[in-house]
Amino acid sequence: MAVLTIEGGKRLSGEVEIHGAKNSALPIFAATFLCNEKCTLQNCPALSDVDASIKILKHLGCKVVREGDQIEIDPTAAHNCTIPDELMREMRSSIVFLGALIAKCGKARISYPGGCELGPRPVDLHILSLQKLGALIDERFGSIRCRRVGRLCGNTINLPLPSVGTTENIILASVTARGITKIHNAAREPEIIDLAGFLNACGAKISGAGDSVITIEGVEKLGGCTHRIISDRIEAATYMAAAAATGGEVLLKKVQPDYVEPVFYAFREAGCELEIGADTILLRAPARLNRIKLIRTQVYPGFPTDAQAPMMAMATVARGTTMFIETIFQNRYRHVDELCRFGANIKVEERVAIVEGVDSLYAAEAQATDLRGGAALVIAALAAHGESKIGNIRHIDRGYAELETDLQALGAHIKRVDY
Ligand code: UD1
Repeated sequence: MAVLTIEGGKRLSGEVEIHGAKNSALPIFAATFLCNEKCTLQNCPALSDVDASIKILKHLGCKVVREGDQIEIDPTAAHNCTIPDELMREMRSSIVFLGALIAKCGKARISYPGGCELGPRPVDLHILSLQKLGALIDERFGSIRCRRVGRLCGNTINLPLPSVGTTENIILASVTARGITKIHNAAREPEIIDLAGFLNACGAKISGAGDSVITIEGVEKLGGCTHRIISDRIEAATYMAAAAATGGEVLLKKVQPDYVEPVFYAFREAGCELEIGADTILLRAPARLNRIKLIRTQVYPGFPTDAQAPMMAMATVARGTTMFIETIFQNRYRHVDELCRFGANIKVEERVAIVEGVDSLYAAEAQATDLRGGAALVIAALAAHGESKIGNIRHIDRGYAELETDLQALGAHIKRVDY
């Protein structure tokens, strides 16, 4: 079992390169299964969720070769159409394999996905949407069995909420379906644009990705391509929050600033100066942050729910009171009790959290509760005086590649200790 030990109170300064986006890489891995030629994915982050996707692809019969941040997937010999329970449980996004499996194999059997516990995370919209495309689905004893008779058939799907995973699953299932599929109220996240870009490069006909209406004209089959995964906007926001919480100055490189834009207002309100380049963001924080009046999480292009916990860690040391409203997930404040161990002053009432900034945090021992909540604890520990220990870091390893190395390069005293 490993823990992170962090000697806090050091001002972060220097440069950090942002890795490829986890949430883009995962659905694109599922998409490679649909292809009929080799695919090369560049800028793949070294994360346990990526390892889990590779295990699933290999289990399905794909050949996978990994060299640094480049992963070559050859799906031509893939034959399997079931994903065992232990692989499904490793991450929630394994559900996007369902659309690809039913499209390619004509049948699929998977169990319910795992992933961060953020309150109920049903898959009802995934199931209903695939049924609208003609999939026959039987949910029993914790497993989902799916089959089709003939090709799936394009349809118009009106999503009651713009679910990211559901939008991805519909795209994957309909890309080789007969006829035209239209998704109304589709998710507009950059990761959807990246998925469509990958599939279009393989011969798909998808238009409107990034808007709330996406049109998919089914094609007979897909080829392969070389594709570079976009950079991780949540990793970028996390490093910005870490720099700000320590009064630091950090240059993010290899970043796509447009995609990080939804969090800029919060940093500016906190008194940080931002200089935005073509693929860089420079953040210069004041010695003491100001409060941010309100952070309300919303679907893209609103403030991302995944950046809520890291921003909350930052707000704990601001001057004044910051209000958070979490609108996407029901139970996304599990990090709050752990942040309070560092001396943070936070009250939660259902979807609202009120953070009264304190003059300083003190070192503590805390447990990561989920991926982004774990990142929040790292930020609190970086800002706190003394040596903190963070356990349960498998959550953090799901989404932050080379965390210790990158933070060390910024002057943090952080190390991983194996027990
Ligand atoms: C994706 C991201 C996750 C991010 C989230 C919201 C990946 C791998 N994960 O998760 O990091 O926090 O988007 O930006 O890309 N819902 C239903 N029924 C369904 C599906 C979803 O009720 O069938 C609800 C969820 O419970 C949640 C809301 O819709 O309250 C949004 O979920 P969704 O956009 O689907 O998130 P994910 O795709 O799971």
